Amino acid sequence: MKAILTAAAVGLAALAFNSLALADEPVVIKFSHVVAENTPKGKMAEKFKELVAAKTGGSVVVEVYPNSQLFTDDNVLEAMLLGDVQMAAPALSKFSRYTDVLALYDLPFLFQDMDAVDRFQQSEQGQKMLDSLSKKGLVGLGYLHNGLKQLSADEPLRVPADAKGLKFRIMSSDVLEAQFETLDATPIKKPFSEVFTLLQTKALDGQENSWSNIYSKKFYEVQPYITETNHGLLDYMVVTSKEFWSSLGDEQRAQVREALDEALAYGNEVAADKSVEDKQRIAESGRTEIIELTPAERAQWVDAMKPVWKQFEKEIGPELIKSAYQSNQD
Ligand code: LMR
Repeated sequence: MKAILTAAAVGLAALAFNSLALADEPVVIKFSHVVAENTPKGKMAEKFKELVAAKTGGSVVVEVYPNSQLFTDDNVLEAMLLGDVQMAAPALSKFSRYTDVLALYDLPFLFQDMDAVDRFQQSEQGQKMLDSLSKKGLVGLGYLHNGLKQLSADEPLRVPADAKGLKFRIMSSDVLEAQFETLDATPIKKPFSEVFTLLQTKALDGQENSWSNIYSKKFYEVQPYITETNHGLLDYMVVTSKEFWSSLGDEQRAQVREALDEALAYGNEVAADKSVEDKQRIAESGRTEIIELTPAERAQWVDAMKPVWKQFEKEIGPELIKSAYQSNQD
């Protein structure tokens, strides 16, 4: 009897010890992304990691996995729903399997500059779009900028007809697909991690991206021409799963939220700087020619791509398109 009681006491003590140890285990947020560390998203994620450590006193730990080390944008959201990763910030163009409305951000020549993007995203409608993934079990925590996109290619692109017949890598977005189809070019959806090799081996002729991505992934070394079109937006949404977000205690969630808001503000500053500095670095490299368009040439690109708006008007919603466009005039 005594032996049984002793064994029971030892068992209880072990259980208590285990739960104490568990209570002390930090919550881990795996943050997966596809770009280099020295980019707006890479730097934002590192800042988030530091701020979370400071604000939670180490009770929440962020592990950052850059350069598609852990997941690509094609599988990260599924992994998030399975609990294998807790946060990511895919480009807004990569949510089309989850919602229609975010396709708004891919419409060509919708925003004239990043201030207009900010005005729209901070509006009630822009903020509401962060909830567009809710039915799929995902929570949009905030937007992050990268910048406006440029077109790079093996050949000089001055007018839309120059793109005819060329193969362009695009993100997984039907709007972007339509955008290149209106140019009689061939769009091909491919993960970001494959772009450099596809361009280097000339399997593809061109791609569209921000100055920061063209610089940090060295696309400019394998693309002899970059046309400064500023034709589209590369922006991100930081997402987590509802399951993970609600598993945090109220205080922890507030601390993580605060850390993220500060990290996003910092990331947006990095984005603004990089769109100037990385363009400059590319220009100074002498590896590629940057083509600046005349207003008349630019107008031709606008005219050529604008029919895409009509094509997606129903899916996105005409009122939403109108509001976003109006943010240019505020
Ligand atoms: C791309 O796939 O071109 C970009 O979305 C990568 C990124 O996250 O900036």
